[in-house]
Amino acid sequence: MTYTLAIETSCDETSIAIIKDKTFIKSNLISSQIKTHQQYGGVVPEVASRLHCEVIHTLIDQSLTEATISLRDINQIAVTMGPGLEGCLLVGVSVAKTLATFLNIPLIPVNHIHGHIYAFSQYQQTLAYPTIALVISGRHTDLILMKEEGHFEKLGKTRDDAAGEAFDKIARYLNLGYPGGPIIEKLAAQGNPTRFKLPIAMKQTPYEFSFSGLKTATIECIDKLDSPDAHIYDICASFQHTVIQTIIFKSIQACKLQHVDNIIVAGGVASNRTLMKEFNQECKNQSITSITIEPKLCTDNAAMIALAATHLGNIYNLSGAEISAKPNLSYAV
Ligand code: KG4
Ligand code: ZN
Repeated sequence: MTYTLAIETSCDETSIAIIKDKTFIKSNLISSQIKTHQQYGGVVPEVASRLHCEVIHTLIDQSLTEATISLRDINQIAVTMGPGLEGCLLVGVSVAKTLATFLNIPLIPVNHIHGHIYAFSQYQQTLAYPTIALVISGRHTDLILMKEEGHFEKLGKTRDDAAGEAFDKIARYLNLGYPGGPIIEKLAAQGNPTRFKLPIAMKQTPYEFSFSGLKTATIECIDKLDSPDAHIYDICASFQHTVIQTIIFKSIQACKLQHVDNIIVAGGVASNRTLMKEFNQECKNQSITSITIEPKLCTDNAAMIALAATHLGNIYNLSGAEISAKPNLSYAV
């Protein structure tokens, strides 16, 4: 029996997970800072790292209690080394190093993006290769080619805003709150997705995305309305529909160009049920197998970090002393 304790502090969620053996999640606790950051309309890095410090030790205690084990039962520690906010990553990495040294057990550095992707493994332990991974979050919109386990090759990414960032910015413009994705999804459910025609960018440029043009077009569309509040459902539905169409178009295009018929969709935006329903249907139409992740493992959490650690191991080959916060860590291995 192996217990892995994982720590994730790369942005505005402090999360601790304990998994037994390779995939059994015993505990996956998340302390969200959303309420604090909501008043600023986005994450304030200094505030975020201080809040991680305040809750991380209590969260570790609570996680051990939930998993009904003690600290001495832990066999290895996994920690998000990057990418993310430096001050935030430092909190997790410092606590992880201290624990691993004190318990004299291995420390596994994990790339946050590998974590998002390996969230798939809770229900399906192995993958058919090659697979494309689409990571859509608040900071990333990346198409990644995985030729085999542990191989991550960059195909392309967004040239400007990430998909989740576009949701957050439109929600902020409409004074709807933060994070924008879940709020817009809820309002969109009552709206007409084809009411406002918005542009799909970069159709001719494979593997690359751009959401800033869509953001500007949506804002222009809102500004032209006498009373945007009266059309809020249709605005949200049309915006979300265009993001979904963009993501589906670019993903299928990437699969075809790479002759790959498996795709994983990961990251916070993949918790959007409308997106996943339409995505899965289109994959079916194109004879592509889509591997989906349950919504609560799509947004930032430590279980995904533990799962990446138990599947990939110490992929960077770093000793405990060499592990440090790496805000710009590349996922390409
Ligand atoms: O993966 P994540 O938790 O954190 C990052 O690594 O960025 O993703 C957070 C992002 C936010 O931009 C949020 O608005 C978006 O994911 N998001 C959603 C939904 N839930 C979260 N976007 C669209 N629909 C959702 N249901
Ligand atoms: Zn994330």
